[in-house]
Amino acid sequence: MILERYRPLIAGALGKAARLDGALSVLVGYPLGLTEADGSPGPGPSGKFLRPSLVLFACEAMGGEVEKALPLAVALELVHNFSLVHDDIQDRDEFRRGRPAAWKVFGEGQAINAGDALLVLALRIALSAELPDSARLSAQETLLSATLRMIEGQALDLAAEGKALGVEGYLSLARRKTGALLGCAFVLGAIAAGRPDLREPSQTLGEELGLAFQIRDDILGIWGDPAKTGKPVGSDLLRKKRSFPISFALGRDPGLSSLLSEPERNGEEILRRLAQVGAKAAAEEELRRHLGEAERLSWELPWPEWARTEFQELLGFLAQREA
Ligand code: IPE
Ligand code: IPE
Ligand code: MG
Ligand code: MG
Repeated sequence: MILERYRPLIAGALGKAARLDGALSVLVGYPLGLTEADGSPGPGPSGKFLRPSLVLFACEAMGGEVEKALPLAVALELVHNFSLVHDDIQDRDEFRRGRPAAWKVFGEGQAINAGDALLVLALRIALSAELPDSARLSAQETLLSATLRMIEGQALDLAAEGKALGVEGYLSLARRKTGALLGCAFVLGAIAAGRPDLREPSQTLGEELGLAFQIRDDILGIWGDPAKTGKPVGSDLLRKKRSFPISFALGRDPGLSSLLSEPERNGEEILRRLAQVGAKAAAEEELRRHLGEAERLSWELPWPEWARTEFQELLGFLAQREA
């Protein structure tokens, strides 16, 4: 499976890249799982490493050397962690990966610094990739544009809270907030493998996976097991988040809108109304549609048999994941 195949390599390189002295050591180390808040050793990296694994997979599947893509993979994982540290402040989410979110531990101001440092560290490590100058520049530009697009998605996400968004509006923001970095993963892999000509299908394939990924995240945010997801259920509902199930349900049951904006929301009643319009099944169907689209696009890429097998396994995981 792709996520196991590259994990040790990514963990090693990330640990090295994130080793900082002084005041940033703990601010950067804590969200990555490398340290505890007091600087003692942490539980180790606890994210899934989906994005960096996809960079390495895309590179290897297109005939490139994994080592050459490694700094780009680490850079993307650092950008992702920057986004999570700031996202938890923005979403007022108190838990991340089963631990208190960075802002709960350090305060908001320092968590903003932690996110800023993770972002700059990412951009610096991407520069160290041993690639021809033109490829390195192109990778840098790809990473910057994807990060900007992700932040645009985050801005749309906050702007949509409590508003009528519609399923199309939801998909447009999810394509940015989550699709951008997954699209970037496949493009970085293609660049490291010396196949920039495959940028287009790589980008779109990653975005489709990103949409499926975010829809699964939304499902877990309402119906997931907190012991597995590492975050409490129901916080999306409290924040009036326009997740896929909510966007879908609002289109079928306009009365839901007032229920969602009551100061004391009735969780049971909201769940009953979601069930009434089949919001979970609709989300699962939409998720499968995007995985199907990703699979269709994968045929445009010149992958060997092993890569197709691994990719199929990943699609199965993304459809079912519990964490
Ligand atoms: C969480 O991403 C944020 C979303 C885009 C839904 P992941 O689920 O990939 O986070 P980690 O890194 O594995 O914790
Ligand atoms: C994840 O957004 C997207 C980014 C962090 C860019 P969410 O807010 O939906 O993700 P979780 O549920 O907090 O991980
Ligand atoms: Mg969030
Ligand atoms: Mg968010």
